[in-house]
Amino acid sequence: MKKRTAFITGATGGIGEAIAQRFSKEGYHLVLHYHQNDEKASALKKTLVKKDQHVLLLKGDLSDEKTLASMLERLVENDIIIDVLINNAGIKIDAPITKMSDEDFKKVMQINVNGAWMLMKRLVPLMQQQGYGRIINITSGVAKDGNVNQTNYGASKAALENITKSLAREVGQDGITVNAVAPGLIETTMTKNVDEAHKKAYIERVPIRRLVECQDVAQACAFFASEKSGAISGQILGVNGGLR
Ligand SMILES: NC(=O)c1ccc[n+]([C@@H]2O[C@H](COP(=O)([O-])OP(=O)(O)OC[C@H]3O[C@@H](n4cnc5c(N)ncnc54)[C@H](OP(=O)(O)O)[C@@H]3O)[C@@H](O)[C@H]2O)c1
Repeated sequence: MKKRTAFITGATGGIGEAIAQRFSKEGYHLVLHYHQNDEKASALKKTLVKKDQHVLLLKGDLSDEKTLASMLERLVENDIIIDVLINNAGIKIDAPITKMSDEDFKKVMQINVNGAWMLMKRLVPLMQQQGYGRIINITSGVAKDGNVNQTNYGASKAALENITKSLAREVGQDGITVNAVAPGLIETTMTKNVDEAHKKAYIERVPIRRLVECQDVAQACAFFASEKSGAISGQILGVNGGLR
């Protein structure tokens, strides 16, 4: 089977790193995007690069169109065709609506929605040319249910889920599937300020009685990315321990 290339955004984050490790084990070449954490990105590259598996690091702010364009130029320079795009990079800036600045609403939308959309827009034509592609968007349970202090984050993830469904309809005929993975609460840098009482209450409500782990999300991504998953598209898969 052809060795495929997976482009994972936010690979220096908790979930992104787990996805990178899982895809490395599955034999993919990797393009790992990150924003600022040079140290973690280099360390990750060191552990994942193998004789027959390339790892390219791409650094940049996904809300910036120019940065994004120069990242994609690096792909062309390195003769890399992306088979699997995982839009995992994301931020949250929580506040009640009365205290949330217009800027913080826009910023979350720009990274979580515009950044992912711009990458899809630019990579879909190349996937169409080769007649193959897998796009996986990391959303959140908040997309469906909403959450206090997350009018920006919830809106961004709901938008990304709808883009997933619309794009799946547009590009299915080109051999491209588009799916989303919606995780529940996971301990990463993003959730470092969630207090212990909240985590405990959450675990009591989750049927599996534990927090979801980054590897659980990586497992779902590997499933959607598989060549054998070609009939599965436009789906939002909750990786949330059965929480409804
Ligand atoms: N953790 C959870 O409970 C949870 C639940 C549901 C959904 N999710 C979603 O899962 C995804 C990964 O979350 P995580 O928990 O792994 O978060 P994380 O550990 O905070 O990682 C976030 C990643 O996004 C990158 N990033 C931050 N700002 C960026 C920007 N302006 N442009 C490009 N990249 C940027 C970071 O890069 P640097 O580290 O290099 O700065 C990092 O790689 C997110 O989309 C999040 O919304 C998380």
